[in-house]
Amino acid sequence: MKVLIVGSGGREHAIAWKISKSNKVDKIYCAPGNAGIAQIAECVDIGAMEFDRLVAFAKEKEIDLTVVGMDDPLVGGIVDVFREAGLRVFGPEKKAAILEGSKAFSKDLMKKYHIPTAAYETFHSADEAMAYLKTAKYPIVLKADGLALGKGVLICNTMEEAMEGVKTLMLDKQFGAAGNTIVIEEFMTGREVSVLSFVDGKTIKIMTSAQDHKRAGDGDTGLNTGGMGTFSPSPFYTKVVDDYCQKYIYQPTVDAMRAEGREFKGIIFFGLMITQEGTKVLEYNARFGDPEAQVVLPRMKNDIVEVFEACVDGTLDTIDLEFEDNAAVCVVLASDGYPVKYDKGFEIKGLDSFTEKEGYFVFHAGTKLSEGKIVTNGGRVLGVTATGEDLKAARANAYEATKWIEFDNKYMRNDIGKAIDEA
Ligand code: AMP
Ligand code: GLY
Repeated sequence: MKVLIVGSGGREHAIAWKISKSNKVDKIYCAPGNAGIAQIAECVDIGAMEFDRLVAFAKEKEIDLTVVGMDDPLVGGIVDVFREAGLRVFGPEKKAAILEGSKAFSKDLMKKYHIPTAAYETFHSADEAMAYLKTAKYPIVLKADGLALGKGVLICNTMEEAMEGVKTLMLDKQFGAAGNTIVIEEFMTGREVSVLSFVDGKTIKIMTSAQDHKRAGDGDTGLNTGGMGTFSPSPFYTKVVDDYCQKYIYQPTVDAMRAEGREFKGIIFFGLMITQEGTKVLEYNARFGDPEAQVVLPRMKNDIVEVFEACVDGTLDTIDLEFEDNAAVCVVLASDGYPVKYDKGFEIKGLDSFTEKEGYFVFHAGTKLSEGKIVTNGGRVLGVTATGEDLKAARANAYEATKWIEFDNKYMRNDIGKAIDEA
């Protein structure tokens, strides 16, 4: 089989690596890819939003299956364009990807189908939002309706902060049209957990759990980022929590989408918060998490291409997902200054140390090939993942492996997975 992957981050590198382990696949392409993906796939210089060029490429190369890693093309309808061209593609159609593309949609869906989530109101004008804030309880959470690179969520401690937030989102339009509508929601406290799943329209199969670290600094300080590291499984995701989510969240979400005429095929990523009153949905995504994929996929035993095909064909009920009885930790190596301002173009040394070391992975995010050398090319540069027999061992292994890599302005958090000490 020939497979095309759409995307260019650490997540897509992890997907490409996992696909490369499939017995069914003899050739992998990636658009646009990066320097690490180029070691296992042929990268082609086509952007993820250039649907017509991607379709033409897939036809020319007779691609058997296209896998879309990123949210933007999914929400923009890439799957519909591929299907209309008669091409096989893994991911939700536009009408289903709205589960991630509109927070107002997903909140209304949860309310209508009684799926547990924080109480909320939706606003289409700044005046109405500000009037509401005058009688609200604090802290409170503001969310831009549309995609905002994971940065459209503002947690506001006071009315003044919230008013400022409404201005930023709705009037100054920091995230463009994504802020035309906002959701204002109740602030919740608890443990966060990310649960990824495969869905074929009617059946849902849950992968192992993970936890992300979104803030830039140790001790969860500093700005929100795309994710500075992950661990899997989450010790807080117990059997009791799983049973509850199976009953009230996972299948009910898939059934709700079907009932709305928006059958979902692809990945549903459940961002959950385990609160005193039970587990609630923080958000849905319509794709693998980044860097959740970098700890979940190395633990997955199945041939992922078989699972992708079962989702496309509606036969996921015949598949048993299996994960290793171990743990994995991913530490993101970033450019100092991320997510605000940082330099790039520095040579990365030590990548060869990972070759053929079982249980150690270096997934490239922002890297590129320049004059025969691999150099830094983004805020998040690499994800160093290691497995171990338990979370403590995986964490020690991952931090050991971060020492093998060197580049100027290398920055990482030193407390990825530290929360497990409290479990
Ligand atoms: P989201 O993109 O909706 O997952 O939000 C990003 C982050 O903001 C989450 O991972 C949480 O840490 C935080 N967050 C979102 N919604 C809430 C909420 N209702 N209460 C507390 N924290 C929240
Ligand atoms: N790591 C969070 C996300 O991929 O949205």
